[in-house]
Amino acid sequence: MTRPINFCSGPAALPEPVLHRMQAELLDFQRSGISVMEHSHRDHRIVELFSETEIRLKRLLGLGDAYRVLFLPGGATLQFSQVPMNLLSPNRPAAYVTSGTWSEKAIKAASQYGPVVEAATSRDSKFTKIPDRQTWVIPEDAQYVHLCTNETIQGVEWFGSLADVAAPVVADMSSHILSRAMPMHEFDLVYAGAQKNLGTSGVTLVILKTELLESAQSDGVPGLLQYRQQIENDSMVNTPPVLSVWVLALVLDWLESMGGVPWVEAQNRVKAQALYHAIDHSGLYRNPVAIENRSLMNVPFVLQDPSLDARFLLQAESAGLMNLKGHRSVGGMRASIYNAISEQDVAVLIDFMREFERTSG
Ligand SMILES: Cc1ncc(COP(=O)(O)O)c(C=O)c1O
Repeated sequence: MTRPINFCSGPAALPEPVLHRMQAELLDFQRSGISVMEHSHRDHRIVELFSETEIRLKRLLGLGDAYRVLFLPGGATLQFSQVPMNLLSPNRPAAYVTSGTWSEKAIKAASQYGPVVEAATSRDSKFTKIPDRQTWVIPEDAQYVHLCTNETIQGVEWFGSLADVAAPVVADMSSHILSRAMPMHEFDLVYAGAQKNLGTSGVTLVILKTELLESAQSDGVPGLLQYRQQIENDSMVNTPPVLSVWVLALVLDWLESMGGVPWVEAQNRVKAQALYHAIDHSGLYRNPVAIENRSLMNVPFVLQDPSLDARFLLQAESAGLMNLKGHRSVGGMRASIYNAISEQDVAVLIDFMREFERTSG
């Protein structure tokens, strides 16, 4: 069976070998005779699944003992609140860079828990870039600085350095984690929902430097939402999303077997370069994002003649290219080309776009 190519922004395409493995191993997890979903989370197999997945993630991300990885419920959306619940105090502000829909949601949520300031924004340019580091105004006593390093809807990605930021740096990496080598040591807390590059929804990674919690406050924060309690309980304060962690483990296994981050980064750069090149050299398509911030993962584009949008989507669907519609807030199209999308998949999309332009001119 030929499967369609799924360009969805999330939940997104999974590597086909992972789907096959899930199918093959679903009924019998590690020769226990029952599925992974039916085990107690206290069973040694599940405890090992969690600890091995943490080790594997740290290996792939190049992280040392200073960091822990938590597997939490609630999506990246809960992190918009959980981060300030744990890190923000009443007398020191948090500084947020707003560069698109998701960082706007993050600052809005945080403002309910304590003082926040907007360190910089690209709202005036309709979020077609991430504000340059030199323009950020960070209060000297900032508790932390928050940034969304890849805005999934606007398709803008951070490629700069944060080495000179004095305050702890918190980042939402939901839509580009493990897509390329990142200077992870520049970040003190990173969160990412799994349903794009990492697996399926239900689990959110929180990767944090444990020393960050030395000044963390926990008064009035429910135990389930305290990072410290989750660390002490190895992400099992309550019944965790075991199935989603298993899928994550299979995705990481696939990634390592293919050659890890260096392999996927090379592939992702080739894919993005080919697609942006095709857009820039067409008479019909246009990408509005500043060149230096063009996302390797989410490529939004508009048709110069929007009356062709519906036909474009219909023909794409018939050609087996799914979910190319842009987010409802910005319109147009968007191709999300996460790790599971191959160079060949992108080549098929480009051929389709060229053919559509030729026949509808
Ligand atoms: C960058 C970013 N942050 C946060 C979210 C929200 O994630 P969730 O639906 O898992 O809460 C998304 C979802 O697409 C996202 O792309």
